[in-house]
Amino acid sequence: MKVLVTGGLGFIGSHTCVSLIENGFDVVIIDNLYNSKEVVLDRIETITGVRPTFYKKDVQDLESLREIFKKEHFDAIIHFAGYKAVGESVKKPLMYYENNLESTFALLKCMEEFDVKNFVFSSSATVYGLPDKVPLTEDSPVKSATSPYGETKVMIERILTDIGNVHKDWNIALLRYFNPIGAHKSGLLGEDPNGIPNNLLPYINKVAIGLLPKVNVFGNDYPTPDGTGVRDYIHVVDLAYGHVLALKKLSTNPGLVIYNLGTGKGTSVLEVIKAYEKATGVKINYVICPRRDGDVPENYASTTKAEKELGFKCKYNIEDACRDGYNFQKAEFERQNNK
Ligand code: UFG
Repeated sequence: MKVLVTGGLGFIGSHTCVSLIENGFDVVIIDNLYNSKEVVLDRIETITGVRPTFYKKDVQDLESLREIFKKEHFDAIIHFAGYKAVGESVKKPLMYYENNLESTFALLKCMEEFDVKNFVFSSSATVYGLPDKVPLTEDSPVKSATSPYGETKVMIERILTDIGNVHKDWNIALLRYFNPIGAHKSGLLGEDPNGIPNNLLPYINKVAIGLLPKVNVFGNDYPTPDGTGVRDYIHVVDLAYGHVLALKKLSTNPGLVIYNLGTGKGTSVLEVIKAYEKATGVKINYVICPRRDGDVPENYASTTKAEKELGFKCKYNIEDACRDGYNFQKAEFERQNNK
């Protein structure tokens, strides 16, 4: 089965390519390297022994996309490519709406033209907005998101639902990720954002290797057990395997399906810091700061549906993810500085 992975050199995309190859899929990547590096292709090859076909193209470029579809004859698409920084999206809404929507439109047009019927969309728990209650099930209401980034996920889910209603023979999976963290155990793949990281784990990683002095804990007065924000942190390797299971599900012709991909367990910011210290032996200094705008107090998944219908079960816990994330960050820093 030949799968197009857009954004396949990014954080979740690259781990998914590894998982797909390990499970016998033929992988073709389109990535414009906006937030990724071509060396990731070599690393996927080092891990799996297989070098995926790679096109350095922008998914919005419909003419190039048509050429690729004509040549490759895809059976399925997994669409990761997109802008994803929540704060940046508030400042540059047009850039976010244009890029995330246009790339999806281009793919959908090619699916119609070249008769590709299977599509997996990289969505987010952000579509649940401020939850009325946790755990979040797939039936929890989809709300107006708290950022243009989140709104693109809500919009694309809606567009895919409308299109799925027309194309009765299409199979579409909306995968709502909770908080992906960790890295491949080889230390070759992981998340290494440029500049000051927005997300908690990349930030802690930089503190751990001494590039930043301390973690800013955004608020300790939330209605949670220790007052800090609670999230559902899922190891990226578990999340990646969820895509293999989703493709298997689509091969049974289910139409449109929606799954949460999380662990089902909430962990607070202070608990994350403690788990990180335990897993790595590195002391993480932190300071309590005011709340960050737009943050919800608590958000974690009900995993019942994915477990029952996909057989999805996480193998790794938060400490595994902290250890693997730290090892990647350390190795990446050394590689970049030729140590
Ligand atoms: N946090 C800190 N300090 C930091 C960074 C984060 O205390 O430096 C806290 C946040 O306040 C929150 C928790 O750590 O309580 C997790 O924050 P992240 O920024 O790592 O993740 P979010 O839950 O805010 O956002 C993530 C993804 C989004 C996605 C959202 C879906 O980054 O893309 O989950 O729920 F939309």
